[in-house]
Amino acid sequence: MSDGSGTGAVDPGALLSLRGIDKNFGPVQALTGVNLDVPAAQVTALLGDNGAGKSVLVKTISGIHAADGGQILWEGRPVHFRTPKEATALGINTVFQDLALCDNLDIVQNMFLGRERRQLGVFLAEDEMEKAAAATLAGLSVTTVRSIRQPVASLSGGQRQSVAVARAVMWNSKLVIMDEPTAALGVAQTRMVLDLIRRLADKGLAVLVISHNLVDVFEVADRLAVLYLGRMVAQGQATDFDRQSVVELMTTGTSIRLSSRATGDSPPAIIAAPGGGSEG
Ligand SMILES: Nc1ncnc2c1ncn2[C@@H]1O[C@H](COP(=O)(O)OP(=O)(O)O)[C@@H](O)[C@H]1O
Ligand SMILES: [Mg+2]
Repeated sequence: MSDGSGTGAVDPGALLSLRGIDKNFGPVQALTGVNLDVPAAQVTALLGDNGAGKSVLVKTISGIHAADGGQILWEGRPVHFRTPKEATALGINTVFQDLALCDNLDIVQNMFLGRERRQLGVFLAEDEMEKAAAATLAGLSVTTVRSIRQPVASLSGGQRQSVAVARAVMWNSKLVIMDEPTAALGVAQTRMVLDLIRRLADKGLAVLVISHNLVDVFEVADRLAVLYLGRMVAQGQATDFDRQSVVELMTTGTSIRLSSRATGDSPPAIIAAPGGGSEG
């Protein structure tokens, strides 16, 4: 599979496709004509330097920001999200950079926050929620947590990330988005989260993971997409890239190494030039 065309033809195999997404905040053009394909059962890594527009793009897919232009296609059909709830209803769940867990609440309470199950319409269905939370964590092979009744304040960074991911996948997720999931983690915890990301894709979910850690990215991603100053400058199979070409794309928006490869008989991974220097 390749994204060789610069025409924005939609990949029929993609669960989510963005075409020509624009987003500005007043005079700040955060995203310009962004195309992106996110297939099921694969890990797609979204890369870019600080300020490239990664978080804005994620918030647009999550229904937090409305795009100013372009199209979002879900399972091939155009969709419009006005709220995060509408994105969630389709099966899009996002683990944001700050995780947004409540420290004083336990794991079960966090996983059901705002979506508590009730008995007789009044009492919290504690047993039921506890079982569902435990089953979800076990299904993700998250085994290091001692008790699902411990407050999340007592968890390690990797465990917190796991709880946030479990909360995201518990609701019929088809696409899980993670913004910098390993940014604050040590080596062992990073390992745990990368394994978890891999398992999600192996279960058939589409995973979109934002990172600027190239070691992590090359370890876990099937596909790479690189943003530079709000434009998508390259995307394709991870095997079409090497670390040097990704660094060049992230820092300059182009890569000699990649374009020379793209002139050979393998399909080009680059889908767009960085915009002819007309950055607004
Ligand atoms: N709510 C906002 N209002 C104004 N500008 C914003 C807002 N959110 C992001 N930006 C700008 O959009 C650009 C992309 O930001 P962001 O997506 O957070 O970058 P990153 O790739 O580091 O996640 C930056 O120039 C940032 O300052
Ligand atoms: Mg960010």
